Amino acid sequence: MRYLKGNRVVLGVTGSIAAYKSAELLRLMVKAGFNVRVVMTVEAQSFISPLTLATISGEKVLLNEFSDDAYKIPHIQEARNSDIIVIAPATAQIISELACGRADKLLTAMVLAARDTPVLIAPAMNSAMWAHPATQGNVSTLFSYGYHFVGPAKGELACGEEGSGRLVDLPIIMEEIFYLLHREKALDGKRVLVTASRTIEAIDPVRYISNYSSGKMGYWLARVARRWGADVTLISGPSELSPPYGVKFVGVESASDMKEAILDHFNSTDILFMAAAVADFRPVYKYNHKIKKEGSGTLLLRLEPTVDILGEIALRKGNKVIVGFAAESDNLVENALQKMRKKNMDIIVVNKIAGDFSAFGSDFNEVTVIVKDGSSYVSGRVTKEEAAEFVIDKVVRLL
Ligand SMILES: Cc1cc2nc3c(=O)[nH]c(=O)nc-3n(C[C@H](O)[C@H](O)[C@H](O)COP(=O)(O)O)c2cc1C
Repeated sequence: MRYLKGNRVVLGVTGSIAAYKSAELLRLMVKAGFNVRVVMTVEAQSFISPLTLATISGEKVLLNEFSDDAYKIPHIQEARNSDIIVIAPATAQIISELACGRADKLLTAMVLAARDTPVLIAPAMNSAMWAHPATQGNVSTLFSYGYHFVGPAKGELACGEEGSGRLVDLPIIMEEIFYLLHREKALDGKRVLVTASRTIEAIDPVRYISNYSSGKMGYWLARVARRWGADVTLISGPSELSPPYGVKFVGVESASDMKEAILDHFNSTDILFMAAAVADFRPVYKYNHKIKKEGSGTLLLRLEPTVDILGEIALRKGNKVIVGFAAESDNLVENALQKMRKKNMDIIVVNKIAGDFSAFGSDFNEVTVIVKDGSSYVSGRVTKEEAAEFVIDKVVRLL
């Protein structure tokens, strides 16, 4: 993702059995284009070799304050140079030391010396250690300092017990990092509703008609809107994708379920992104038993138009911002402007479908954002994450 590339991350690794996961976390950070400086505690080195992390980061790993480079005062220098400090996994010990303001190891001294750098802590420990009032008290203290926590998750722990204390999944830690590094929070306090994926219209209990929409564009819009500070609800038809972290998720199936869910949330929405590919037609008759192949001959399926969701919403629009999506192959701007005016939308995002290129299922997209005053902006071929950033940036300007 181009717009967060080049950020400088300090990754603190402490003495938890989950320390082996820090290698994969580091790989994800490097893949995202971050420059990462790893700092390990003495105990962490019993769990994972500094050489592993040095090789993945391409940088020397910092192991203690009093190294040959001590004259450069690493705890101050590294703290000032970083855009974010992430401690993953974070032990009960490091959480307690940070809450006490200790500075007797490089990692704690660095956090203490940081000024406006966000600090993100991903705890990993036995569930009794996490639940202990001492740990919970320390966590509250760190919250009061403005530090951020992600996890822990519930599940099976390394000690064989079950409970809350697992290091949260690495993509969730990455999402929190993107959220904290995204300094533009122009949607702070705004309630955003996103629809995504396809709807399915039942023929009988085992068959349906639908379309190829994967939900990727809408899921990215939901994630990116949260990074801009919005309170996001995602209404999704069936999709292979996992619900994005930090977003309220509502799963639906048919176009009429989608309509109900949108109307349920619409009153408390400021901006609606209609990225779902809602079916235009549905079978007139839904069989309540499986249609048998034997003896049926040719099956004629009669279809009727589904509910006009945008039409219904247009009636209740008020000063809410409605962003529609369309796929067009020719007369892009003209067709889109017509649709936008008819449906009372503020912005329409046109997915290009031309030649070999189809946005369906792809990780890439090329969008044209058309504003109701007729101005238009073309993204060029970008990832869907970047396309979401492009669209939201234009919506923010309109607001
Ligand atoms: C095998 C083993 C696994 C451990 N796992 C954890 C853990 O997951 N979380 C934790 O808080 N402490 C764990 N500990 C205890 C910490 O390593 C210990 O508190 C240590 O002092 C932490 O130091 P540090 O926070 O400076 O790295 C474990 C210890 C051992 C021997």
